[in-house]
Amino acid sequence: MRATSDFRSDTVTRPGAAMRAAIAAAEVGDDVLDGDPTVRALEARAAAWLGKDGALFVPSGTMANQVALGAWTKPGDELIVERDAHVVRWEAGAAGFLHGVQSATLTGDRGALDPEEVRATIRPDFIHSPRTALVCVEQTHMGSGGSVVPLGNLRAIAAVARERRIPVHMDGARLANAVVASGVAASEFAACADSVSLCFSKGLGAPIGSVIAGSSDFLERAKVVRKRLGGWMRQSGLIAAAALYALEHHVERLADDHALAKELARCLHGLPGLACPPERIETNLVLVQVTHRDFDGAGLAAKFKEHGVLVSALSPRALRFVTHLDVGREDVERVARAARSILGVS
Ligand SMILES: Cc1ncc(COP(=O)(O)O)c(C=O)c1O
Repeated sequence: MRATSDFRSDTVTRPGAAMRAAIAAAEVGDDVLDGDPTVRALEARAAAWLGKDGALFVPSGTMANQVALGAWTKPGDELIVERDAHVVRWEAGAAGFLHGVQSATLTGDRGALDPEEVRATIRPDFIHSPRTALVCVEQTHMGSGGSVVPLGNLRAIAAVARERRIPVHMDGARLANAVVASGVAASEFAACADSVSLCFSKGLGAPIGSVIAGSSDFLERAKVVRKRLGGWMRQSGLIAAAALYALEHHVERLADDHALAKELARCLHGLPGLACPPERIETNLVLVQVTHRDFDGAGLAAKFKEHGVLVSALSPRALRFVTHLDVGREDVERVARAARSILGVS
């Protein structure tokens, strides 16, 4: 049994022996001067998987999103985005700070925007209005617990945006989870967007790195933004090798994480003051609503820690468990034992 069972995020995984061997064997070069061969191989592989002309390797998912925003917008523009999306909620105001754009936020249904509401939110071409420069979608949607936004919904959003010649950016940090959970190809989801980000350091289990993919025209602009943000790296083949290994070996196994997340929800749902209906768990995130009289989210997380279970308190009324490569059935059993002990259930 591990010393702790860490369910705080799928970003906590450590590279295993095979991934470390791939890192050690990576051929590298100066990516800025001549191109790093392993980075090029990763970019080509990711672009093919996503069905886009190309992709750029960047250090983080936040940078991938912000490179896209910088490439699509000008200061004074507006983007349309779901109110809990990572781009507006968890990137420290980067859209305004870096690019001078504001956000029109809409309330989604488990991450899905209403196409008619998107249509109504697009600004008229009018001197008093900001220009609507971008629509952002997120797949899977983190804020609603890793739900998969249906392909039909994404297609409808893309159709509305394209009618008005507005590009769509997809934050696909966990797109691979959506692919495995739905059986829809990555390229089909990605076809609904003009730029797509993808993270290797979440469920795919690499230590560092994301890509931002799109058309050749988009990538020309995106390269300049990456340069400005300091995201163009040198012998980055060392980390690209891990990302490439992750893309080649860790996609299909995400199904195990999804099954484990459902199992975890089954263990917790219905315990006093906890709710996480297992039928709502689609991927690897389990949002647990906390309505207990004596514990709020932080109080419960502290109690779990005493039992060797690490979990995130997202708010006073919500805990988030995330399954990943470095937790298994025995860790879920530990969660179940800990919860019953904390809540006094025999
Ligand atoms: C949906 C989503 N997008 C983007 C990011 C940003 O990724 P990073 O932490 O690598 O900047 C995250 C991080 O958890 C995320 O959940």
